[in-house]
Amino acid sequence: MSDSPKRTRRYVLAERPATPTGPLHDSVLRYEDDVPVPRLDAGQVLGRVEWMSLDVATRGWMNDTRSYVAPAPLGEAMRALGAGTVSASEHPDFAVGDRVCGSLGWQEDAVVDGATLRRVPDGVPLEASLNILGIAGQTAWVGLHDIGQPRKGETVVVTAAAGGVGSIAVQLAVAAGARVIGVAGTAAKCEWVCEIGAEDCINYREEDVSAACARLCPDGVDVIFDNVGGATLDAILPHVAVNVRVVLCGAISRYEGGRGPAPLDNWFHLLPNRARMEGFIYADHEARFDEIEADLLPRLRNGELRSREHVVNGLTAAPGVLQMLFDGSNTGKLLVWISHP
Ligand SMILES: NC(=O)c1ccc[n+]([C@@H]2O[C@H](COP(=O)([O-])OP(=O)(O)OC[C@H]3O[C@@H](n4cnc5c(N)ncnc54)[C@H](OP(=O)(O)O)[C@@H]3O)[C@@H](O)[C@H]2O)c1
Repeated sequence: MSDSPKRTRRYVLAERPATPTGPLHDSVLRYEDDVPVPRLDAGQVLGRVEWMSLDVATRGWMNDTRSYVAPAPLGEAMRALGAGTVSASEHPDFAVGDRVCGSLGWQEDAVVDGATLRRVPDGVPLEASLNILGIAGQTAWVGLHDIGQPRKGETVVVTAAAGGVGSIAVQLAVAAGARVIGVAGTAAKCEWVCEIGAEDCINYREEDVSAACARLCPDGVDVIFDNVGGATLDAILPHVAVNVRVVLCGAISRYEGGRGPAPLDNWFHLLPNRARMEGFIYADHEARFDEIEADLLPRLRNGELRSREHVVNGLTAAPGVLQMLFDGSNTGKLLVWISHP
């Protein structure tokens, strides 16, 4: 054992939000600044949380709605992926000082079952385990390789292309030999998307997406890696090529305001083009995370894969910045950095 912390700070999910999306009322998350750290049982690990991931799904987990995973429980530290250092261990595979990641929650110190943790590889920053090597990279990898399957010379359109998942999908598609067109919400984001390999990028706030697709994809779109849904996806559909694969990764334009599914006026382009349209959840592929890491890690180490992180400082900043994912003001994977004295 080490001189591990006896007390910690955390945010507990105190009540369900009044609306399924949108800014949080103060009473949803309760800040507790002097919480006893429980004694470890056999198999448990105490992790000192240094990085916390804020994800689009975080807002959904707060709601009591039917989803791919149970709602985050009330009265417990809010659910979040995190990365940090082991400060005490009753698990044979982990020792004090080991670098780990897993579901650590909105708290500065987390007691978790060691079997749920992954090791962060040597020589990479802890936060990479929440980005290229974590949820963003795993999601982009599964969606692109399993469903998108881009071939050399094919045209891939990625929406929310400057974001955590999107920017990695762009680079994986470029690495597969495809020509990539991004879609993003500002000129600066579009510039970054081109910097990481896209041939062009459509600023959907300034340009007509359908007209831009017609101009940039004259031979049709072979793969749509879609993070946005709604009007953006609908605008791309008339431009699909024969045998298009539509990767349904996310539908962020429909989450805000609880708008739910949108009609796709242009769905009929899918049929004559023998389309495959498929959704997926990255967590279903947990058994393959080692395989995915083995592919992504060397590319991270040799600089082939780049990422941008939007870092906010301190646990207490977290509730106020979650909304950035929905108004587009995050520039890269949204992370909270927690410093420990
Ligand atoms: N299937 C899975 O297993 C899985 C796992 C993780 C994430 N996801 C999905 O992946 C997507 C990206 O997530 P992320 O965590 O990497 O977040 P992110 O892309 O870093 O941030 C979200 C971005 O979405 C864009 N956006 C927000 N509202 C929009 C709207 N109304 N229309 C168009 N774009 C909008 C914004 O970029 P702009 O400034 O460009 O608008 C914003 O920065 C989300 O849809 C998420 O649900 C899926």
